[in-house]
Amino acid sequence: MWGGRFDGGPAAVMQQINASIPFDKRLWRQDIAGSLAHVAMLGATGILEPDAVARIETGLRAIHADYEADGVPEDPALEDIHMHVETRLAELIGPDAGRLHTARSRNDQVATDFRLWVRAACDDIDAALKALVAALLTRAEAHADTIMPGFTHLQVAQPVTLGHHLMAYFAMFGRDRGRFADARARMNECPLGAAALAGTGFAIDRMMTASTLGFDRPTANSLDSVSDRDFAIEFLTCAAQTALHLSRLAEEIILWASQPFGWVRLPDAWSTGSSIMPQKRNPDAAELARGHSGRIVGLCVGLMAVMKGLPLAYSKDMQDDKEPLFEAHDLLALSLAAMTGMVESLTFVPDRMRAAAASGFSTATDLADWLVREAGVPFREAHHITGRAVKAAEAAGVQLDALSLDALRAVDPRIDGRVFGVLSVEASVASRGSLGGTAPFRVREAIAAARSGL
Ligand code: ARG
Repeated sequence: MWGGRFDGGPAAVMQQINASIPFDKRLWRQDIAGSLAHVAMLGATGILEPDAVARIETGLRAIHADYEADGVPEDPALEDIHMHVETRLAELIGPDAGRLHTARSRNDQVATDFRLWVRAACDDIDAALKALVAALLTRAEAHADTIMPGFTHLQVAQPVTLGHHLMAYFAMFGRDRGRFADARARMNECPLGAAALAGTGFAIDRMMTASTLGFDRPTANSLDSVSDRDFAIEFLTCAAQTALHLSRLAEEIILWASQPFGWVRLPDAWSTGSSIMPQKRNPDAAELARGHSGRIVGLCVGLMAVMKGLPLAYSKDMQDDKEPLFEAHDLLALSLAAMTGMVESLTFVPDRMRAAAASGFSTATDLADWLVREAGVPFREAHHITGRAVKAAEAAGVQLDALSLDALRAVDPRIDGRVFGVLSVEASVASRGSLGGTAPFRVREAIAAARSGL
């Protein structure tokens, strides 16, 4: 391919380290689409004769059909997917194949292929995220009134509803979808035509290739076009953020499935057993999603480290951009599918959730708020009084709503019988009707808004 300048061939290890075909063959569709757009433009601008254009197009379509049917052959001597397609084209149509690379370099070619791939990956992940948020919404809807403890510091804090808790994840994954959409919009510029780094002397039409390939516009600067991998890093940061959210959801499912909690039961289809302990039902899929999230973060940091300090424009280091993307995409897509399946099919155990919510003096804040509202006590003082009531309940071995009125009045005489109206977990969640709060009517409102937005 560059034989004119060379007397000898590459060392075997040189060839091995240089070859990207084992992984970049995954770009074959994008590579052929990019070449078809390029050759059509070369024809439209009169840079190539119509006959040559037609032969090249026919050849490219034949290669597409072959790869589709039989996969991409791998020849390490041909280095990468671009050289595989071009070499095969030469076998099929002869010397005209050599005209395809007019006004093009592998530098703008690979940047274009890779953008096309990452753009499709954004769509792919968005579809998976959409399925996950739909599953969360369905489960939240059925559990708008199911009471569970809300935690801070993993200590029982205040009762919330399961629907509200699930809608928190809906919000997180909704932001993730927004991030992928932003990244997609930003990356949707076409580097083709930047050639090696400086642009080309041929009168090419970059608007045409950009629009043929579904890009919004051509990139603005030829040097940036071939040296930019922001779009890949941005995909990875979006993937890492999504994976972090998935990991938190996975962690909660793992915790909730644990016997001391017993808040969820995983169906057989989403459980694994133990080879020694016959009673086991392990949440392996959630654990793997939690584990994969760590790997995805690592892949993100890895590509940042590859790109850091590279001088403009293209350096071969950048060939190392693809594997982290492919791996992160695959890990994330699989984790999303697994977590969606779990969310859709796990069984919640409302009785146990409610019992946990009614423990730990979870309505103490409601007592303090009652003192503020009904007895005009400043909140800080009400907090102190309530602390003494909790102490009394703890000493008596009961929850707050099981203390007698006398016991409560011994703590503070301003308390009267109406206080029992706020001390149950049901009253507690029902009272939290502030915008975005856990009151079931607010949760239903949030679900309805989410449904109309999906
Ligand atoms: N396989 C290369 C890559 O993935 C294609 C670009 C090669 N360009 C070059 N000037 N050697 O980055």
